[in-house]
Amino acid sequence: MTAFIESPALRHCWHPVAEAVDIGADAPLSVTLLGNDLVLWRSPSSDIVAAPDRCPHREAPLSLGWVDDGVISCPYHGWAFGDGGRCVRVPSATPGTAIPPAAHLPCVNVREQYGLVWVCLDEPRTDIPEIPQETDSRFRRINSGVQRWNASATRLTDNFMDISHFPWVHTGTFGDRQRTEVPTLELQDLGAGWYGYQFEVDARNADDDARLISGSEEEVVHRHMSTGFTLPLTVRSTIRYEDGLEHILLLCSSPIDDDHAYFTFVVWRNDDFSVDGNEVIAFDRAIGEEDRGLLERVPGSLPLGQTDLASVQADRGSVEWRRQFVEFLERSPS
Ligand code: FES
Ligand SMILES: [Fe+2]
Repeated sequence: MTAFIESPALRHCWHPVAEAVDIGADAPLSVTLLGNDLVLWRSPSSDIVAAPDRCPHREAPLSLGWVDDGVISCPYHGWAFGDGGRCVRVPSATPGTAIPPAAHLPCVNVREQYGLVWVCLDEPRTDIPEIPQETDSRFRRINSGVQRWNASATRLTDNFMDISHFPWVHTGTFGDRQRTEVPTLELQDLGAGWYGYQFEVDARNADDDARLISGSEEEVVHRHMSTGFTLPLTVRSTIRYEDGLEHILLLCSSPIDDDHAYFTFVVWRNDDFSVDGNEVIAFDRAIGEEDRGLLERVPGSLPLGQTDLASVQADRGSVEWRRQFVEFLERSPS
């Protein structure tokens, strides 16, 4: 089967590959997206530039170079590149010599949103997923950092759309072995471009971390939740407690290649902002590590044929994501 990352459709989508704070003033960042090695740095205008990590002169990795005043220098012969990847200096040339057009970098699209750096390798055909709470002053945003997981982005997304693993994988956090049954999932439009299901759940609230997040001292707390996706690979999970506290999680999986992914999550929360953000997301981090521990043991990418895997009613959400994802991959980018 062809690697899913070969689908041209994915090249027209935005994928988060770093946090904006990762792109510092003096060092470039190297990332890989859909098998393409890229270099990112902040140019003189302060915009982030992303370009193939290959110097147009003799193909040295620009990410081994350095950044001065927004200009990146190649470590091999010192050619330098500024705003929009334009070559601004060829040290071996006599002053006044014209810079050849092929010396400029073929940059790719970059946007900063939700504290993340989103890259699109080709003409964008989809939008960055919408989180209305980003502009709602009752909510604060907490970023978690970007991790590299030895697991396929398809496996991550499938997992994030799945709630039946909670009692089995998340036993160290909120999972409850006594509550394994999943109610009938009704798929629906969740608004703002998200598609998935809503459900009610009683979650274990046994330790201090869980209580910090739920704002409750009870052993078990009731949550109204929704889980939904936007194509190709983003999942949003929302939690609303009975006292009105809301906790929104954006779960992003960006394919490095077929079998490896960048994972990051972002939280929006309408608490009283009194607890440090890092403490607030410690529980979500622990949940992520539980998923990672399992997913990094599952080799390869998710089989995408509708009959390749056995599924049951509880898998309805992830099966629907996979069905739409396959359709999306097959769409020809005309
Ligand atoms: S390879 Fe980059 S300047 Fe020569
Ligand atoms: Fe999980």
